[in-house]
Amino acid sequence: MEYIKSNKVVLIGDGAVGSSYAFALVAQGVADELVIIDLAEEKVKGDVMDLNHAAPYGGSPIKIKAGSYKDCDNADIVVIICWRCSKKGETRLDLIEKNTKIFKNIVSEVMDSGFDGIFLVATNPVDVLTYVTREVSGLPKEKVIGSGTILDTARFKYELAEEFGVSDRSVHGQIIGEHGDSELAVWSQANIAGQPLYQLLKDDPERQHRIEEIFVNTRDAAYDIIQAKGATYYGIAMGLVHITKAILNNQNLVLTVSSYLEGEYDQKGVYVGVPTKINRQGAVKVFEIPLSEEEERLFNNSVNILKEMQNKISHLIA
Ligand SMILES: NC(=O)c1ccc[n+]([C@@H]2O[C@H](COP(=O)([O-])OP(=O)(O)OC[C@H]3O[C@@H](n4cnc5c(N)ncnc54)[C@H](O)[C@@H]3O)[C@@H](O)[C@H]2O)c1
Repeated sequence: MEYIKSNKVVLIGDGAVGSSYAFALVAQGVADELVIIDLAEEKVKGDVMDLNHAAPYGGSPIKIKAGSYKDCDNADIVVIICWRCSKKGETRLDLIEKNTKIFKNIVSEVMDSGFDGIFLVATNPVDVLTYVTREVSGLPKEKVIGSGTILDTARFKYELAEEFGVSDRSVHGQIIGEHGDSELAVWSQANIAGQPLYQLLKDDPERQHRIEEIFVNTRDAAYDIIQAKGATYYGIAMGLVHITKAILNNQNLVLTVSSYLEGEYDQKGVYVGVPTKINRQGAVKVFEIPLSEEEERLFNNSVNILKEMQNKISHLIA
């Protein structure tokens, strides 16, 4: 049969996040082909059957199959969400090193297929593993994107929407920096219809404390969810689908993804969560959101933490 080019996504990692992403992709009708790769072959087999049975009621026709790295040759996007979790006694650095080695193998295999599309990375620590993906693949920076603070920004919007009683669609607020403990809220720019939310809270003695609470709820949401049900997956899955749609439908959406800085924010050589225009070419432009002095200090601190992590694993990818 003649092969007709379609929107093709390859998903590597069919765990809690990966399978939620696959389901959302089918439900929303975002791609025409989805190939799933995971070491857990039986799990993939089951998910492929289940998803193919969901497809007739999904957003648009889609073919789903289990595959191998060879399937990446003509993929538009390869999404990497696989990881090995930590074992007892392992430090955070042990875990990062272990996942860096896994990424080195996986990205090399994908590139050996002849892949020339866009990598979308979500495995944690996402900023560092996105850097690893870029270094190992040798692809231009626009073609390697991390999920960055897309989920954190959604959490911030949720908190603000609840606080001010409007839809999350009407709230403008962003979390930037590391996807992790050193991230920051850009309070100086957060607004609803141009009304500065920081000032609104600060000027109200009864609500001042909410400034800190809203940020802490945002930053620490993952800990609370993990405590309650073991892992977080729906939020990031929807964030990843949002990025996938922005790429495949050439949407020019500005999203807080992990992008490679080359002088923006006076920083270079690092992947970090910043507002970035996303279209069919990938992460094409980083937007420099105006920051207050304190926000600039926090952002630089976050970048330094990421650079330190990058340096610690750079010998593994040299
Ligand atoms: N970026 C974010 O905002 C965000 C949010 C939530 C979770 N995460 C991260 O997503 C990652 C996955 O989380 P999860 O809950 O889905 O984990 P999980 O343990 O449920 O799934 C991981 C999957 O990776 C597979 N895998 C491991 N090594 C592989 C390899 N070499 N090749 C192919 N498959 C392999 C495993 O078999 C498993 O199915 C974690 O790093 C987690 O921290 C990121």
